Amino acid sequence: MAYSWRTFFTAKAVALNFERCLRACFEISLMYMKKDFLNFQVDHMTLLLQPELYKVAYLMFNVIFGVSPEDLLYEKRKRWQEDAGEESMTFAVRIGKGVHPDPDLNNTIIAVVQPSEPESQASHVRQMLDGHESAALWQHVALRTPDLTAFHQHAVERGVQFITPILKDDEDNLIQVFSGEWYFPGMKSSGMFFEFVERNPSEESLKEIQAKNQETWFRDKTFLGLYGEKQREYDSGEVTPFISFELFDRLYQEFRDKQIWEITDADFKRAEEIMLEHTANK
Ligand SMILES: [Fe+2]
Repeated sequence: MAYSWRTFFTAKAVALNFERCLRACFEISLMYMKKDFLNFQVDHMTLLLQPELYKVAYLMFNVIFGVSPEDLLYEKRKRWQEDAGEESMTFAVRIGKGVHPDPDLNNTIIAVVQPSEPESQASHVRQMLDGHESAALWQHVALRTPDLTAFHQHAVERGVQFITPILKDDEDNLIQVFSGEWYFPGMKSSGMFFEFVERNPSEESLKEIQAKNQETWFRDKTFLGLYGEKQREYDSGEVTPFISFELFDRLYQEFRDKQIWEITDADFKRAEEIMLEHTANK
C-alpha cells in the first residue's frame, strides 16, 4: 500500500506531538522527583516531661511499651548543686526495631528530657513546659536523611536557620544539626524544632564537616551543646525561628489571600524564589 505525502506529514506531525508530549511529561516528572536527601525517615522523637511524669513515663515505657534494659539506650545525670545529689536529665528508649539490613537504621526511639535543674536555676525545659501549661511536649523530631550535607545546604539556601553547625557524634557514628523553632512574629516560641541526622556518614562527608567545624563533637558535648544553646536562647529571650520573621512575613503577605487548595505549582515556585532571593540578599 502506497502512502500519500499527506499521510506521511500527518504521521510525522503525530510523532512530533507525541515526542513533545513525552518531553513535557518528563520535565513535569523531573520537577516532582524527590531528591534522595529529601527522603526522610523518623530517627527519634524528643519528649519534654514535667518531673512527676518523667518517672511515671519511665515505668510506663517498661510496663506498657515493653522496653527492656537493653532498650534503654542512655540515661544521663547531672549534679547541678554541689551539696545536692544527682538528677536524671534525660533518657532514651528504643520502642521498636525494623527489618532494615543496616541495624543502625532499625530503631524507633523516644528520647525523654525533664527539667532537672533546681527550682532556683533557670531551665529552658521548664520554661517550655510551664509556658505552655503542659505536662508533656514533643520538642523535636529527628529526621534521618541519606545526605545531611546536601540537605543542610538546600535548607540554608532557602532561609532555614540552624542553631548549631553540623555536629559529629563519635559514639553513635552520626552527624546532626538542629533547626530553629516553628513560630512566627507576635507569638511566643513554640518549643518545637527539628533535628536532621545522617547515620554512618561517609569518610568524605566527615572530612568536609570537620574542615568546616573547628571542633569535633562527641556525644556528651553534642547533647550539652544543644542543651546549652537552647538555654542560652531562652535566657536571652531571643529564640531563633525556623525561618526569619522577615521571610515569614514575606511569604505570609504574598499568599495571605489564598486558601491552601488554591496554591498552584507556580505559587510553590514563587515561594521558593522568594526564599532563595531573600537568603541571597541577606
Ligand atoms: Fe535528638
